[in-house]
Amino acid sequence: MKHLIKSRATCMVLVFILYLRVEYCNGEEDKTLGAVMEKTEQEALYFAIQGFVGKWWNGSELYPDPCGWTPIQGVSCDIFDGGYWFVTELNIGLIHENSPSCVLKVEFSPHLFALKHLKRLSFVNCMVHRSHPITIPTEDWAAFAGSLESLEFRSNPGLIGHIPITFGSLTNLQSLVFLENKMSGELPTNLGNLINLKRLVFSGNQFTGQVPSNFGSLRQLLIMDLSRNSLSGNLPSTFGRLNSLLKLDVSNNRLEGTVPNEIGNLRNLTLLDLSRNKFAGALTKSLQELSSLKELVLSKNSISGSLMNLEWHNLQNLIILDLSKMMLKGEVPESISELKGLRFLGLNDNKLTGELTPKLAEMPNVTAMYLNGNNFTGKLILPESFYGKMGRRFGAWDNPNLCYSMNLSSTRHVPFGVKQCQDRVNLYGTEVDISSKLEGNVNEVPSLVASGEYTRNGISYVYLVNMMMLLCFLDFAI
Ligand SMILES: *[C@@H]1O[C@H](CO)[C@@H](O)[C@H](O)[C@H]1NC(C)=O
Ligand SMILES: *[C@@H]1O[C@H](CO)[C@@H](O)[C@H](O)[C@H]1NC(C)=O
Ligand SMILES: *[C@@H]1O[C@H](CO)[C@@H](O)[C@H](O)[C@H]1NC(C)=O
Ligand SMILES: *[C@@H]1O[C@H](CO)[C@@H](O)[C@H](O)[C@H]1NC(C)=O
Ligand SMILES: *[C@@H]1O[C@H](CO)[C@@H](O)[C@H](O)[C@H]1NC(C)=O
Repeated sequence: MKHLIKSRATCMVLVFILYLRVEYCNGEEDKTLGAVMEKTEQEALYFAIQGFVGKWWNGSELYPDPCGWTPIQGVSCDIFDGGYWFVTELNIGLIHENSPSCVLKVEFSPHLFALKHLKRLSFVNCMVHRSHPITIPTEDWAAFAGSLESLEFRSNPGLIGHIPITFGSLTNLQSLVFLENKMSGELPTNLGNLINLKRLVFSGNQFTGQVPSNFGSLRQLLIMDLSRNSLSGNLPSTFGRLNSLLKLDVSNNRLEGTVPNEIGNLRNLTLLDLSRNKFAGALTKSLQELSSLKELVLSKNSISGSLMNLEWHNLQNLIILDLSKMMLKGEVPESISELKGLRFLGLNDNKLTGELTPKLAEMPNVTAMYLNGNNFTGKLILPESFYGKMGRRFGAWDNPNLCYSMNLSSTRHVPFGVKQCQDRVNLYGTEVDISSKLEGNVNEVPSLVASGEYTRNGISYVYLVNMMMLLCFLDFAI
């Protein structure tokens, strides 16, 4: 009995060691020597690359074993179909220091589409000659339908034409990027079929037409960047379904209409940039639901309404709030000063009115605050240390009915371009104060920015009047 147990244990140990060896050997074999590349795959790779970099490039001579001991930069391989190497990644263009540049007349060779396990394909700085514009062929892309996960065209100023309608068949795509090319035309509606997309970037091209409403079907999307094109029409309300979205940037287009209420559903959104469009209507109240937002940029639109209608303290993660150059009316609510993480506050060039709360100075991280170009009234009563810390990054100029109020003895830190409140000027025995103030402003003159020109005159004028009043007073006294 004892003997049996012992031999059984020995046997199991032996089996285990044998198992380990087999595993080890298989591992070795998989990773290196055993695998080969099919001749057809290898030729397809060479010819595909040649189409972009030129006939001089002799792959079989330069890189006889492209997935093995002579790797090509920008090419990755993996093993499929019982131990054969296949190309999974191909990056064309000036990506690495010594990668060959593309030729004048690049050619999308049919061999490219024979790489049946290709997952990632990119073109960076490849079609760069504006004088020899290139269009993407429409045919053949369906060959990649089951495999391609990432397709990117970046910085190709010579790449023109429309997005091929056949891209709508690439249903495995997780990333589709057209960044800084010269592509034009409308965005194909059937891109709404690419339901596995996580990233969709069309920024910096010349796309026109409406944003397809069925982009709202891309429920996996994390990043949608349509900025810097000529897109028009409304922002589809279907975008409210993109509830995984982290970043939505449609800035610098010609979008119009009101910002749909449904935007408020995007609870994970950290960036919303709608700036430089033609959006109108009142400030969408549901924006207050976007509790993950770090950056909210709506500047340069015709959006009106009042800031008082939103519960700003819901947006506790805000770092950048830019609502400049819009048509906002009414007062600045005190709840904006509860955004303790705020670093940038832009409310300039609106039609805002009322008095400014001293609590604005209590946002600990704020480094720039622009309130200029409104019609704020009354007295600014912010601490001198705040003016000192901010300098010109506290913008309160161009508010004709605003003045600052502070101790007459403190002359070092005053809000730039704002006049001092009249009632603080003591005409009796303060000759020194007034002249030192005048001096202070004269010293500021050489470094004035262009927009400060008007303001400088404003300040000088105020002090001129003060001086004259003082002289008159002295005259009378004599
Ligand atoms: C590439 O080089 C090989 C070996 O030197 C040669 O046989 C082949 O003809 C060359 N191919 C081209 C397209 O130049
Ligand atoms: C939002 O983010 C949270 C935390 O990262 C995550 O658990 C959740 O699944 C996200 N919601 C959606 C709809 O993606
Ligand atoms: C202020 O900035 C610091 C440094 O970036 C950060 O650690 C801190 O959390 C910020 N304060 C608030 C209230 O967000
Ligand atoms: C600015 O506000 C003042 C006081 O409320 C008002 O009298 C004046 O008309 C306003 N100016 C403009 C340009 O709206
Ligand atoms: C004037 O400044 C002093 C010292 O900075 C301060 O204690 C005092 O309260 C200030 N007075 C007014 C009216 O602001």
